Amino acid sequence: MEFSHVPVLLNECLDALKIIKDGIYADGTVGGAGHSSQILKRLSKDGTLVGIDRDNEALAAAKSRLEDELAAMPEGGRPKYYLVKSNYGDMPQALKTLGIARVNGILLDLGVSSHQLDDPDRGFSYMKNAPLDMRMDTEESRTAADLINDSSETELSRILRDYGEERFAGLIAKRIVLERQNHPIETTGELVRIIEKAVPAKYRNTGGHPAKRTFQAVRIALNHELTTLEACLPDLIDLLALGGRLAVITFHSLEDRIVKNAFKTAEDPCICPKEFPVCVCGRKSKGKVITRKPILPTEEEMAQNSRSASAKLRVFERMGEE
Ligand SMILES: C[S@@+](CC[C@H](N)C(=O)[O-])C[C@H]1O[C@@H](n2cnc3c(N)ncnc32)[C@H](O)[C@@H]1O
Repeated sequence: MEFSHVPVLLNECLDALKIIKDGIYADGTVGGAGHSSQILKRLSKDGTLVGIDRDNEALAAAKSRLEDELAAMPEGGRPKYYLVKSNYGDMPQALKTLGIARVNGILLDLGVSSHQLDDPDRGFSYMKNAPLDMRMDTEESRTAADLINDSSETELSRILRDYGEERFAGLIAKRIVLERQNHPIETTGELVRIIEKAVPAKYRNTGGHPAKRTFQAVRIALNHELTTLEACLPDLIDLLALGGRLAVITFHSLEDRIVKNAFKTAEDPCICPKEFPVCVCGRKSKGKVITRKPILPTEEEMAQNSRSASAKLRVFERMGEE
């Protein structure tokens, strides 16, 4: 299946990263290299790009895209690139293995690619019947079917409420537990039917597909999307060279809040009580938030790519001491 994914907020990201041609850039969610290929294009022979993804299919697509990009550049002027199968949360380790201690820019474009959503075998989509999989890294053992069949009703309800903002979380969780007593829930189609039965009839045709929020919530929980993001942002900021920038595109209000708070804390980490005349906690600012408000897609981009509609870009710049 050909890799199709239109990069979101592409020009905004390239501007935000303020690319230096000899610099080192890390893309923690390289996907099909939609963003990375454009970063590579702006680098000189002394520049380096590191693309990370936890999905082998994405890495294969990225390789082919980056090779095409390099082939179009004059020999002798081509930058270096590395592709690494890793979780972006382990970026410090992945870069260390390559002998890289600091980078001039990092990009995270969170969530799933259109390719992952469109591939019926991956089980991310409520539109296609498929095994209930949803693993971004298909070498992990736990699938969405495992999560659906072995989580308690309370846990399922929490996941759907917290990660899907699903108002019928309790009803859906109850129905899942009831249905799985007969036989395990193995396919996306079965889960969709269960959700449809659980949602009160008058709400089934309002607010988008009734399974949309549950599928998003299960994907986020299974792949530890929010916990990874929250845990690693301070470490990613520490990887930046002075003047280097971290750009993060989110698609979910909870992700955006995590990024906003992490950037705010990195800018002003002081925990001294307000009434203290001087700081005694010793925590030093790591830099400044470039985007007081997130950068949003233009009307034109949203019209061309509906997936961009919920995208928000936030940017942080490293300053101060190394
Ligand atoms: C929205 S896509 C990126 C698309 C890419 N920017 C492009 O334009 O082609 C997100 C990618 O991030 C990957 N991904 C999600 N979470 C990840 C994580 N924690 N570590 C590494 N890769 C991750 C997914 O496998 C997917 O390929």
